[in-house]
Amino acid sequence: MTLNDPSPTREWWRDAVIYQVYVRSFADSDGDGVGDLPGITARLPYLRDLGVDAVWLTPFYTSPQKDHGYDVADYTDVEPLFGTLADADALLTTAHDLGLRVVVDLVPNHSSSAHEWFQAALAAAPGSPERARYLFRDGRGPEGAEPPNNWVSVFGGPAWTRVEDGQWYLHLFDSSQPDFDWRNPEVGDLFEGVLRFWLDRGVDGFRVDVAHGLVKEASLRDQIVGEDELPGSGADVNGTQNTDRSMVERTLRDEPMWDQPEVHEVYRRWHRVLAEYPGDRMTVAEAWTQTPESMARFVRSDEMSQSFNFAWLVSPWSASAFAAVITDTFAALADVHADPTWVLSNHDVIRHVTRYGGGEQGLARARAATLTMLGLPGSSYLYQGEELGLEQVDVAPQFRQDPSWFRTGEVGRDGCRVPIPWSGEQAPYGFGPGADQPWLPQPDDWAGLTVAAQLEDPDSTLAFYRRALAARRELTGTRIEMLTPAEDVLAFRRDDVVVVLNCGSTPVDLAALGLPTTPLATSGPGVLSGSTLAADGAVWVR
Ligand code: NOJ
Ligand code: MG
Repeated sequence: MTLNDPSPTREWWRDAVIYQVYVRSFADSDGDGVGDLPGITARLPYLRDLGVDAVWLTPFYTSPQKDHGYDVADYTDVEPLFGTLADADALLTTAHDLGLRVVVDLVPNHSSSAHEWFQAALAAAPGSPERARYLFRDGRGPEGAEPPNNWVSVFGGPAWTRVEDGQWYLHLFDSSQPDFDWRNPEVGDLFEGVLRFWLDRGVDGFRVDVAHGLVKEASLRDQIVGEDELPGSGADVNGTQNTDRSMVERTLRDEPMWDQPEVHEVYRRWHRVLAEYPGDRMTVAEAWTQTPESMARFVRSDEMSQSFNFAWLVSPWSASAFAAVITDTFAALADVHADPTWVLSNHDVIRHVTRYGGGEQGLARARAATLTMLGLPGSSYLYQGEELGLEQVDVAPQFRQDPSWFRTGEVGRDGCRVPIPWSGEQAPYGFGPGADQPWLPQPDDWAGLTVAAQLEDPDSTLAFYRRALAARRELTGTRIEMLTPAEDVLAFRRDDVVVVLNCGSTPVDLAALGLPTTPLATSGPGVLSGSTLAADGAVWVR
């Protein structure tokens, strides 16, 4: 299995490590307990020293923050909570001076209900051009009192909300996030302008939110829901915490709201726009598609650059399951010009230490999975705080802010969004100059997990990430060969290096398996002793 573009001059993003910054929770400059752009800029040297290639910023545009920025009221201005356009420019300049690229988030599926277009649509009559930028429809049943179809919001409850004159509008997410009608050319023109606005300011790429959702089946017909399926419009694959189902193995469901063929025209247009700009600008799709093949359709040579490979993230702790994801990923990408991406955590899912069981074992497994991922050719995405080994936080109900919590009463995603501990013995752990808890309270046992504490400790998770990212620069091979040394052991060869992950419950002897034993990187202290690889450990050996 090999990269589709193995040339030495391939674009930077084909084998980059991209670090996700959740803007509200990375660093606060002004003491209001909410992270902001100047806070991020001041901490960019930390990311350079960590050894990543690029930063992806979650949305920092003008927004009522109902979904913490994924509800955009103005796509070409900065939310005052986070700073100003000048702060965004300063961030870009500083990042580029440090040799870091910057990818920004683009939210094209829906706007905020506070967007001027939606406000105009509410003020206008049914059938007006203002309404035609969104998906307004008459209801069903007597007096149209029933929603136009049976779709359910990803955040729970009906995907339709009724307005005063009796019409309904579609929102696949919160009612404050009305979906655009991408069959209306005005919408495409708006977003071409948005792309150009940020490209002109120097961004290196876009992470495209809900990339598989923009175009709905034109009929807006009912979703056919099988007896064994949850009713819903993809709540199992989108933005929620159900990470235990294998997307690869589950049966295909009827999804008239996702992954429609016409969506690809949007990305062909964007491809042409990006190609006008110098310097390898890129796009990465957040597309919770049902199969590796449908993921690959987003990254055909005239569409997007990358697509998140969520199959890796949802894989259970199993050597054969991990191996299957690797093999299926390369197979699906073989026919397109794209290369794979890998990701274990983001702001929508339970942190991977916790997913793998939490505590010491969860951390050992998380570090091992990370080292394995970083050994794969292609691009890896890291989520802020995973380099500190942070676990999912149990946020008390009175502090929860995720819209899905308000709509469903389920815990939601706040637990992976708690602000980063930088230094000190108690909250806010250097997150900002304020003295109080930040917007989501930090646990009182994080003193040992701060950046400052971990920089002092060569065995810390932070030290491990820094070593692994440095060692990764030596892994230049663009092809891998899968080895199957033992049932619970995942191994692949990349040039003269073999990456080995022990998913079993007992140690394995690498020499006895015919594998090399000289370590280039290990997932933790004591993971490799002599030629013995501990359970839940990973190594790069040669
Ligand atoms: C996916 C984003 O990652 C998530 O945080 C957001 O809530 C939804 N899209 C809606 O924009
Ligand atoms: Mg602030």
